[in-house]
Amino acid sequence: MTLSISLTINGQPRIIPVDDPRVTLLDLLRERLHLTGTKKGCDRGQCGACTVLVDGRRVNACLLLAVSVDGADVMTIEGLAEGTALHPLQQAFIECDAFQCGYCTPGQIMSAMGLISEGHAGGDPERVRELMSGNLCRCSAYQGITEAILKAHQ
Ligand code: FES
Repeated sequence: MTLSISLTINGQPRIIPVDDPRVTLLDLLRERLHLTGTKKGCDRGQCGACTVLVDGRRVNACLLLAVSVDGADVMTIEGLAEGTALHPLQQAFIECDAFQCGYCTPGQIMSAMGLISEGHAGGDPERVRELMSGNLCRCSAYQGITEAILKAHQ
């Protein structure tokens, strides 16, 4: 049986047929909608590479069934830049050398976006590290990531 779910993705309303009700939001985004900026790391809620915003809140897309977010507003890394203009967070990540391999970067940036929409903008480096603790970086670029977030939130 094919279901249809309704999502607003990066500002665009979409009706999406779902063949398998067990498909995760992560697999729907990557495999059905080809929004591959959202990364799959652990696929079990431990690394944060799959972080997107659902109704303005940070979520691990690998832990949510797509059908469970029917009707939601989803923002992925592809929705951040406006035309050729990078979002200030993206620009700050570049200026602060906040990545090495870059695999975790979309999740880091979306999680940092969530800090704003959840009302945690600003603060000190320790607080930012704590709030970002769900996003792992195997290259250990944490200092640059923290600096970028603080810079973008000024
Ligand atoms: Fe979802 Fe790691 S891929 S938390």
